[in-house]
Amino acid sequence: MFIFSTDAYQDFTKKLVKQARLKYGRLTIKKFADGEIYVKVKEKVAGQNVFVVGTTAPPSDNLVEFLLLCQALTLAKVKSITAVLPYLGYERADRLKEAGEAVSAKLVADLLKFSQVKKIIALDLHSQRVVNFIKEDIKLVHLSAIEILAAAIKRENLKKIIVVAPDNGALTGAKKLAKFLSCGVAWMEKFRPRHNVACVRKLYGDVQGKQAVIFDDMIDTAGTICQAVCCLREAGAKKILVAATHGIFSGPAIGRLRQAPISIVFVTDSVLISQKKRIKKIRIVPVTSLLSKNL
Ligand code: R5P
Repeated sequence: MFIFSTDAYQDFTKKLVKQARLKYGRLTIKKFADGEIYVKVKEKVAGQNVFVVGTTAPPSDNLVEFLLLCQALTLAKVKSITAVLPYLGYERADRLKEAGEAVSAKLVADLLKFSQVKKIIALDLHSQRVVNFIKEDIKLVHLSAIEILAAAIKRENLKKIIVVAPDNGALTGAKKLAKFLSCGVAWMEKFRPRHNVACVRKLYGDVQGKQAVIFDDMIDTAGTICQAVCCLREAGAKKILVAATHGIFSGPAIGRLRQAPISIVFVTDSVLISQKKRIKKIRIVPVTSLLSKNL
């Protein structure tokens, strides 16, 4: 069975090919001078079930490339497309908070449906609303990297651990992580005065003298994490670690993480992390075996 990949995910997909014994599908992906993307499938795929691995980090070009690849496969008369999406972007706007806004998560789910994707294998989607948008029309296998992150944390032999959710949205995941680590949970109230600015307001739970593991689904600018770190310091946490499924690390993220009193930042390889962003405290935990088992 063939597995195709958008340009950014070739190395990731080659690992899946080995683990799941698939055939790597050859493609041409190029850009015209104005930035438009050209995609050509170079395999005979008519009548076959195929996988397509894609990412949306950064979002726009990667999303269009993924959609063009699905269209090329549909035009080449594949029987079905299963999309493997280790990280799906445009999920943050998952409801109408103010009149006049776009709900990008719904649009992305619709685009996937129009692209003839029959099944999606995704990892730690942002919210139940996103899950529901997708499930309206497409079969969804929703995987979580939390157990894999927990295993990596356990190897550190921490004592007196507490898992901390830096906002309400992270609480469900934090509880799951705490279950794997057999420890308690603390949580925080967060608000955003404007996009990409996080303010943590209040901490619920006792972190005094404990080794705190902040859990979030994604680290984007690291504003949320660094606010949570300040709050934990003030509340007397002894050591602070971070675990997140998606290490997006945009804008000031790496500088902030470097300076913050955090010992280790665990993220998965769901998003490609360039060499220059791989500072010493970042540990990348692979999720390819989890995905390959579910193909
Ligand atoms: C928010 O809803 C998410 O779960 C993350 O907390 C957020 O996207 C992280 O963004 P940043 O790193 O920019 O604070």
